[in-house]
Amino acid sequence: MATNNNHPQNNYNNNNTKNNIDQQNQAAKGDIFTRRQRIQQQRKSLPIASVEKRLVEEARNNDTLIIVGETGSGKTTQLPQYLFYGGFCRDGGVIGVTQPRRVAAVSVAKRVAEECGVALGQKVGYAIRFDDMTSASTRIKYMTDGLLLREALLDPCLSKYSVIIVDEAHERTVHTDVLLGLLKSVQKTRSRYANKVINGHAQNGLLLGAENDTLHTSLLKPCHGKKLSPLKLIIMSASLDAWVFSEYFGGARALHVQGRQYPVDILYTHQPESDYVDAALITIFQIHLEESHGDVLVFLTGQEEIESVERLVHERLRQLPEGYQKLSTFPIFSSLPSEKQMKVFMPAPAGFRKVILATNIAETSVTIPGIKYVVDPGVVKARIYDADTGIESLDIVKTSKAQALQRSGRAGREGPGKCFRLYPESEFAKFEDSTTPEIKRCDLSHVILQLKALGIDDITGFDFIEKPNRTAIIRSLESLFLLGALTEESKLTDLVGQQMARLPLEPMYSKALILASQLNCLEEMLIVVSMLSVESIFYAPREKLEESRAALRCFSSPEGDHLTLLNVYRASNEFLEKNKLTNSKEKAEKNLRKWCKDNFINSRSLRHARDVHSQIQRNVEQMGLRIASCGDDMLVFRRCLAGSFFLNAALKQPDGIYRILSSGLMVQIHPSSVLFRSKPECIIFDKLVRTNNSYIRNICRVDYLWLAELAPQCYGLQE
Ligand code: CDP
Ligand code: MG
Repeated sequence: MATNNNHPQNNYNNNNTKNNIDQQNQAAKGDIFTRRQRIQQQRKSLPIASVEKRLVEEARNNDTLIIVGETGSGKTTQLPQYLFYGGFCRDGGVIGVTQPRRVAAVSVAKRVAEECGVALGQKVGYAIRFDDMTSASTRIKYMTDGLLLREALLDPCLSKYSVIIVDEAHERTVHTDVLLGLLKSVQKTRSRYANKVINGHAQNGLLLGAENDTLHTSLLKPCHGKKLSPLKLIIMSASLDAWVFSEYFGGARALHVQGRQYPVDILYTHQPESDYVDAALITIFQIHLEESHGDVLVFLTGQEEIESVERLVHERLRQLPEGYQKLSTFPIFSSLPSEKQMKVFMPAPAGFRKVILATNIAETSVTIPGIKYVVDPGVVKARIYDADTGIESLDIVKTSKAQALQRSGRAGREGPGKCFRLYPESEFAKFEDSTTPEIKRCDLSHVILQLKALGIDDITGFDFIEKPNRTAIIRSLESLFLLGALTEESKLTDLVGQQMARLPLEPMYSKALILASQLNCLEEMLIVVSMLSVESIFYAPREKLEESRAALRCFSSPEGDHLTLLNVYRASNEFLEKNKLTNSKEKAEKNLRKWCKDNFINSRSLRHARDVHSQIQRNVEQMGLRIASCGDDMLVFRRCLAGSFFLNAALKQPDGIYRILSSGLMVQIHPSSVLFRSKPECIIFDKLVRTNNSYIRNICRVDYLWLAELAPQCYGLQE
């Protein structure tokens, strides 16, 4: 059975950490309270509540404020409300709160709407890519940092916001970093023009730009006729790196909100684990069978892994005697539909132990009550960019010490807890102190497009909090040029560049949509891009590998994964439409879920892809792109893929390995690909994933001559 006590994974070194002990008791709980009263009680007992007046005062007196506070102290949910009641929306201004993660934006907005006793989308709302829950009356708006950047394209002064709170700044996502740079100049511009109506002279081409860090006047056109008020900026962070932000904002005032942290026992394994998923499973059951009451939070790296662990937990549970089966699992990852995400905040059924299977999102972005045990394999999925090859990949990498501390801290929010680190203590000593900001390890093409669209042409001169690698900038400029988005002078091209900057997608996906509209296959490309935008459409549980492969064969196309995904989407659509003729919408959706299960298709992912599809369809319609179908002519479609993913083209080598043409990197087709066995000569791929090997995923067979014809700038035949 799974819980073998002699297993090395169960032998932990015990090592107490000294954490601050706050002796205050938790909020009084009792059945005499209604949910609303209980929530108000909880609000009052949060550490931040005692400094409400002071925070409002400080926000009033400082243009920029840095607030640092432990996770769970109440920053994200409370501060916007304090500011709202403190009068910061008085003139119709909106308090914008940015989050690096979609799940956090959605879940926090729901919570705050409930705390305020209003319907979501009214006073309190959220907006994330592909989902806008705000209205004209929204005054507290949670959103992703990426979304606010997109808003800046339409309104460079972000004039509707009176306050912008950049939350989770310590995460240092690439969007947060770009946003900080932008907000710095927006703030200066707005103070400069405060209470003056902006007019004419911007059109005279008078350049303010560089010397005083305000926005280029040509950008202020959308603000003509408007009266701008100063912008209040608040940067919130969970870790003690306030000085970085404070220094960046010219010595801005930094405040520390005291948190509440009980001691957490840290346990390490004696030996390194070869399979952390298996080690996590064993530890979950060890906790369940041997430890006292309390919920468990397990950190995993992604949707696929979470779903597989969830299945395995249930399988092993069934092998336990009946009395020991009271354990329920709750997954949380960013593409999980929001009503499912919310379940994680609900208490488990009476007598059950709750096991939360989470990605990095539970590290600081969302605070889940009731956690007493944390299981930390010490790994995280991260974007890694190799500037030499120009290729970005998603790699499973070791966490930093700061991340490990954040994770263990989740166990000590409401009382003493335990953290099971699935690696030896000697390993911890080798971790980096803190995580490298994403801007230093990601492909910058999309960011550069956005900055260019904002009129910021000099990327190397942009006031980043930390400058990205110069080679990475040059690489990204090169690939944007090859995709037709930039001119030789690195200016945005009128058509392709402008359109690509408007689409909320990676440049190659945008290129595919634009080219598809010219080649009359946009209907197909919309579907494929939506399916590529979500994680793992197929699932292949270890114990049913053969069955799942057989199911995949019903959809698979000899031309590759893109066409296979198209087949799945169309088949599911057909099934749903037919079902709707005789069933209610709910029943039809339910039947679709069953259909998915029978076909080993991940219904959550498919649903997400449908949502993404309807959103990008709206985007391309607004841009006036022609949506036509190529019918059965899949050659046209594959040519279109070749003409847009040519930077990801690879040729088979005599030993069956592939060489990426643009970089010379040697890679293998991932076993999940329908082309894994047939191995065509020339292919394009969607993503590079590195574990022990370099795998490429989502492959399509193409003809080398198409590359030469459609991307002569890369593959033109030499005379
Ligand atoms: O931002 P910070 O980490 O400082 O805390 P927060 O997200 O504002 O959360 C404050 C408290 O609200 C947490 O301790 C949770 O117990 C509670 N909360 C909740 O119950 N449900 C949510 N969806 C969000 C927060
Ligand atoms: Mg927070």
